[in-house]
Amino acid sequence: MCGIIGYTGGAQAAPKLLNGLKRLDYRGYDSSGIAVLERGKITVVKAEGKVAVLDKKTDFGNALRGTVGIGHTRWATHGAPSDANAHPHASNDGRFAIVHNGIIENFFELKQTLAASGCVFSSETDSEVIVHLIETLYNGDMLATLVKAERELKGSYAVGILCADAPNTIYAIRKDNPLMIGINGKNGENFIASDVAAALEYTHEFVLLGDGEIAAVSPAEVAFYDADGKPITKEPYTVKWNIEQAEKGGYPHFMIKEIHEQPRALTDTVRQRIKRDGSIDLDGIELTPEYIASLDGIDIIGCGSAYHAGIVGKYFIEKHARIRVNCELASEYIYSDPITGANRLTLIISQSGETADTLAALRLAKKRGSRTIAVVNVVESAIAREADGVLYTHAGPEIAVATTKGYTTQIAALYLIGLKAARIKGAITNERYSALIKELLSVSDKVSAMLAPAEIEQMLALAKKYSKNHCAFFIGRGADYAASLEGALKLKEISYIHAEAYAAGELKHGTISLIEEGTVTLALVTQSALYPKMESNIKSVSSRKGTVIAVASPENAKISSASDKVIILPECDDDIAPILAAVALQLFAYYVADCRKCDIDKPRNLAKSVTVE
Ligand code: AGP
Repeated sequence: MCGIIGYTGGAQAAPKLLNGLKRLDYRGYDSSGIAVLERGKITVVKAEGKVAVLDKKTDFGNALRGTVGIGHTRWATHGAPSDANAHPHASNDGRFAIVHNGIIENFFELKQTLAASGCVFSSETDSEVIVHLIETLYNGDMLATLVKAERELKGSYAVGILCADAPNTIYAIRKDNPLMIGINGKNGENFIASDVAAALEYTHEFVLLGDGEIAAVSPAEVAFYDADGKPITKEPYTVKWNIEQAEKGGYPHFMIKEIHEQPRALTDTVRQRIKRDGSIDLDGIELTPEYIASLDGIDIIGCGSAYHAGIVGKYFIEKHARIRVNCELASEYIYSDPITGANRLTLIISQSGETADTLAALRLAKKRGSRTIAVVNVVESAIAREADGVLYTHAGPEIAVATTKGYTTQIAALYLIGLKAARIKGAITNERYSALIKELLSVSDKVSAMLAPAEIEQMLALAKKYSKNHCAFFIGRGADYAASLEGALKLKEISYIHAEAYAAGELKHGTISLIEEGTVTLALVTQSALYPKMESNIKSVSSRKGTVIAVASPENAKISSASDKVIILPECDDDIAPILAAVALQLFAYYVADCRKCDIDKPRNLAKSVTVE
């Protein structure tokens, strides 16, 4: 996610802004910038790279005069990291500057309208439409202007705004993206911040701006208004965290913070790509009927969790698009003399976009004539740059080594590709297509329900009970088998408990010899068509005194009679269940590792991105 800081007070703003941006360094970003207002003139300085580049450009802020300003660290979503795409963005008349966190879903339509009316755009970003919209709507009354602007913006946004006509004021609006007002009026200064870490060294008093609300922040006063411009009052709250706690949003680890960010990450990955008519826009990636018909298969390639996401995608694409999908580990693919070419589409999956094995696989597939589409989280990463097409997951920066939101958004992105191909091929009925689109649009809410305190409590108790075990099995059939692979990896990489995933039907071919009293088996039971088979596999474990924890969809809750414990997922289509099952198994792994006091965010021997073969 991007980071926002704003300052208005008696001191020079630039050094405070730069300092605040450095506090947001942990969030991950690729460019940054500040804007300062002095005597009716807004000066903007921005640059690709770290805030240190801004330090140099502004002599640590001393080269910019002015006591009110806004600053931003950018995590690219639309448009490569570059000086031009960095925030703040200024209006053509120089009267306004804005910083934005979030995604403007209707930016394309807005940009067309604004450009047609004469606005000159200087970036590829969605955010820039905001400053041109404000300039276009402005009639001298900033409050009225912002009320109108909010009615036109669709998507998620936290915005800080400078207006040259309001010499010591910062305006702020937000929807679905946090924006706080840091209150320090007794010292004659106030702040805006995307998270408290940016301003915590100056104040512990904050007000959270509500969706649709507007704030006018000046040194002596902070005025709040509702979406219609009517004044409202809001109570400040005191943040008791220290800086380190603030960086994790109050969570004890980045991993659990990122698990809780999944509803937002899934919404940002899916919603803007599903148009009002239900059609899917893969960010301009063309899949024509002729091209799809020319394929004799799809290869999905990745490492670790990315590979597991690929297997979940395989089941979905084969089921709905009726195209044969081969899933391969990148490290195997590159030495397998792969049989590929123009008649095969290669999907490259990578959160970081820098994994050496995966990058090598991409290059090899391309060299052999296969068209490559990357599903990547980091904009302009090596894999994103070299693939023929890229469909970004909008999970935001992922700091914990163990991927969570990176993985579930990869599945969602693969589902979009699968549905698009299925529709082009005419392999799916309109009814089934619409049902799955509806499910994808609502999956965030179901993940949110799984993160409710009562659910977390249940998972914590379960983890406590089994945290001393030395080994665990994960079993499932079909898409549940695919989901079990990731469940096993999550547990072993952060708790160091040996865990293995097995196709449930495989148990009897050897592994069941390991089942004994005390062995824990997590059995995924979300694929209703396979329920009878799963039930007998589970019974084969429990009859050998193995402990079974079932992870089941509501319609399969009856499996509790054959299990020691059952985790019931929210109601959803079987095909969407792998996303929900992933969240349950992430929580289980996290709380087991926490009970074992492991170094959850930085597990031993692991790196966030394996950039060596
Ligand atoms: C997942 O929790 C691990 N950190 C690891 O398996 C990871 O998925 C793998 O290294 C691939 O990374 P990438 O998605 O950045 O390419």
